[in-house]
Amino acid sequence: MSEQRGHALTLQEVSKHYGTFTAVDRVSLDVAQGEFLTLLGPSGSGKTTILMAVAGFVAPSAGSIVLDGADITPLPPEKRNFGMVFQGYALFPHMTVAENVAFPLRVRGLSRADRDTKVRAALDLVQLAAFADRLPKQLSGGQQQRVALARALVFDPNLLLLDEPLSALDKKLRAELQEELKALHRRVGRTFVNVTHDQEEALSLSDRIAILNHGKLVQAGAPGALYERPRTRFVADFLGKSNFLEGLVRQPHPGGFTLEAGAAQLTVSLPAGEAAPAAGTRSLLSLRPEKITLLGEGEEADSIVDGRIVAWSYLGAGFSLRIETADLGEIRANLPSWRSAFAPAEGLPVRLGWPAEAAVPVEEDAA
Ligand SMILES: Nc1ncnc2c1ncn2[C@@H]1O[C@H](COP(=O)(O)OP(=O)(O)OP(=O)(O)O)[C@@H](O)[C@H]1O
Ligand SMILES: [Mg+2]
Repeated sequence: MSEQRGHALTLQEVSKHYGTFTAVDRVSLDVAQGEFLTLLGPSGSGKTTILMAVAGFVAPSAGSIVLDGADITPLPPEKRNFGMVFQGYALFPHMTVAENVAFPLRVRGLSRADRDTKVRAALDLVQLAAFADRLPKQLSGGQQQRVALARALVFDPNLLLLDEPLSALDKKLRAELQEELKALHRRVGRTFVNVTHDQEEALSLSDRIAILNHGKLVQAGAPGALYERPRTRFVADFLGKSNFLEGLVRQPHPGGFTLEAGAAQLTVSLPAGEAAPAAGTRSLLSLRPEKITLLGEGEEADSIVDGRIVAWSYLGAGFSLRIETADLGEIRANLPSWRSAFAPAEGLPVRLGWPAEAAVPVEEDAA
C-alpha cells in the first residue's frame, strides 16, 4: 500500500429527493483523515443513498461532497478512486481469487508485474495469500468477503466505502470479521466509511458514529460519547437499551436539577456547561438498565425508586429484570449475576437506586 494515508471527507448539506420523497435531508458531516466512521440507522434512513452519493453513483439533489477541500460532487465514480464493498457483493465466479483482486488493476492498465506485486500485498493484508488460486465457490462466505475487501483496497483507494459488508454472515463469523476489519483499518490507516444497522458492530468498530433517522443526521460522535450522552430519545433507544423517565423539572441549578415524577424525586447532574431546563417544564431522562442497582437495607443512592419485580430472566452474564413502579411505570434493570447473592422472584419488592449522572436528559423526537 502507498505511503499516502487517508483522505478527509466532508458532506455539506447533502440532500437527495426522489420526486416528493426526501431520502437524505441536509446531511453535513466531517470524516477525518484515517477515521473509521459508521453510518448507523434503521432500514430506509438513507445510509446507502449517502454512501452512493459519496461514491458518485447517486447525484445529490443539493449540497456537495468534498475530498481534502476539493469539491468532487460533479466527478464520475471512476475519477474518485474509492474502494467499495457492498452487501453480498459478488466476486466474479469464473475468476480465481488472485484474478478477482487483480481486476481493478487491469481496468487501470497496470503492468503484469505491478499487478502481481499489489495483488500479493492485498491478499497478505486480508490473510488469504494461500488461497490465491482458488475459485470463489471454493471459499467460505467470510473468506469471500475478505477477497472483496482485498479487491477494494488493492488500488490504493482514497476512501474505502463499506455497505453492510458483513450482514450476510452468521453471527460468529461476523464477529470475527469485525475484528479483522478493525485490525485492517489500523494496518492501512485509510479513511473508512462503513454502513450498518447493527448497533454492536457500530460501537465496536468505529472511531465515530453518525446516527441517521428519516434521512436526517440526528447525532454524531465517538461511540462512548453517543452511548453515554444521547441527545434524543431515538438515539438512546437505537444505540443500546434505555428506560425513559418523564417528569417535571424542579430546583434547576448550574450543575443539574431534580425531576419530580409522582412521589419520586430524581437527582440529575449535568456535564459542565450544559444548561438546566427551566423549573416546571417537562423533561425526559434516559437511564440505561445496567446503571441501576438494587439497594439493600439502609443503602443510599442519588435517586431511589421502589418497585416490584414483574418478570425476570437469566442471561448468563446477568439478570434482566422488569420492575413495576408506582411513579415511573415499568423499569428495566440489568444486574450482574456473578458474586451476587440476589435471587430474583416475581412479586419481590425491590428498591432501585442510581447515581445522579446515570440519568441523561434527552429531547423528545420531532414528530
Ligand atoms: N431510486 C430510488 N427511488 C425512490 N426512492 C428511493 C430510491 N433509492 C432509495 N429510495 C428510498 O430512499 C430511502 C432511503 O433508502 P436507503 O437505501 O438509503 O436506506 P438504507 O438506510 O440504506 O436502508 P437499509 O438499511 O434497508 O439498507 C428509502 O425509503 C428508499 O425507499
Ligand atoms: Mg442500505
